[in-house]
Amino acid sequence: MAILEVENLKTHYYIGDKPVYAVDDVSFTIDRNETLGLAGESGCGKTTTAYSILRILPANGKIVEGSVKLDGEDLVTKSMEEMRKIRWKKASIVFQYAMNAFNPVLRIGRQIVEVIQEKEGGSEQAAALTVAGLFEEVGLEPSRIDDYPHEFSGGMLQRAIIAQALSCDPRLIIADEPVTALDVIVQNKILDLLRKLQAKYNLAVLFITHDLSVVAENCTQVGIMYAGNLMELGSATSVFKESLHPYTYKLIGAFPSVTGPKRRLEFIPGTPPNLMKPPPGCTFHPRCPYAQDICSKELPKFEEISNGHYARCHFAGQLEFGGEE
Ligand SMILES: Nc1ncnc2c1ncn2[C@@H]1O[C@H](COP(=O)(O)OP(=O)(O)O)[C@@H](O)[C@H]1O
Ligand SMILES: [Mg+2]
Repeated sequence: MAILEVENLKTHYYIGDKPVYAVDDVSFTIDRNETLGLAGESGCGKTTTAYSILRILPANGKIVEGSVKLDGEDLVTKSMEEMRKIRWKKASIVFQYAMNAFNPVLRIGRQIVEVIQEKEGGSEQAAALTVAGLFEEVGLEPSRIDDYPHEFSGGMLQRAIIAQALSCDPRLIIADEPVTALDVIVQNKILDLLRKLQAKYNLAVLFITHDLSVVAENCTQVGIMYAGNLMELGSATSVFKESLHPYTYKLIGAFPSVTGPKRRLEFIPGTPPNLMKPPPGCTFHPRCPYAQDICSKELPKFEEISNGHYARCHFAGQLEFGGEE
């Protein structure tokens, strides 16, 4: 059984009584020792997926359908009290902006000690020792435990939140754009650290990013999102080398090589749809060079096209990419 099983997840926000279809039918699994990279342009529903799993959605966000099973237990039906016990202990999150993750007026070490004591009990001294060990593990001087958040650089804060994410020995870590706010050299160091810890603790990792080159280097599995839908899912090799969805193919085209220069994501004419009013049929059809009549009428099913390789496209497996360039 996979550690995380997300099935037909639909999460909508409400503006007045009007829904924003932020996550619309997303399914994937993550095993122990596996890193799933969830990629797609800004606004496609990645963070909403993450917040749905941990049930930390803003007040106007609601899971309207689907299940999120962690070790076989459905989190969608849990009470907030039960979720508080699960967060950090069984599943934790590394936020994009670590600065916002810590209380600015409390010492960082103190905040992690509190998480450990709340979840695991035990004495303050024991928790402080654990934090010292975690600091060392993530490459922070244990003597910095008494520092305040503002005394840390961006990279150090990211290391501290990784220490906090690990503090109660979770099975699943969700990293939501963990390096986007950092400069490239620091990015690489943090990514190395995440890879090392993932392997050491056999973690299941949901790695969220808008940057496909980061996915290529860090993930065993890849999911590609567009306008609230998961469009393609499979092993990194199959998604990168044998893309099934036109959107995936176009997105990869925006990253000519994983080590080469990144181009801006202005690669497909048009813009992603307003999620309050997604187009009928396939949400990508207005921008898809391969669209046929059916694409504007019927939402394609998310189907397994070859072993473990899924796509949401009426013509998945039938298209020859590259011909229209
Ligand atoms: N609190 C909110 N209320 C209404 N719409 C929201 C809210 N938060 C996010 N959205 C919308 O939901 C969609 C998905 O957002 P998000 O999950 O943050 O995307 P991503 O992380 O991929 O950039 C976007 O269209 C965004 O504008
Ligand atoms: Mg986001």
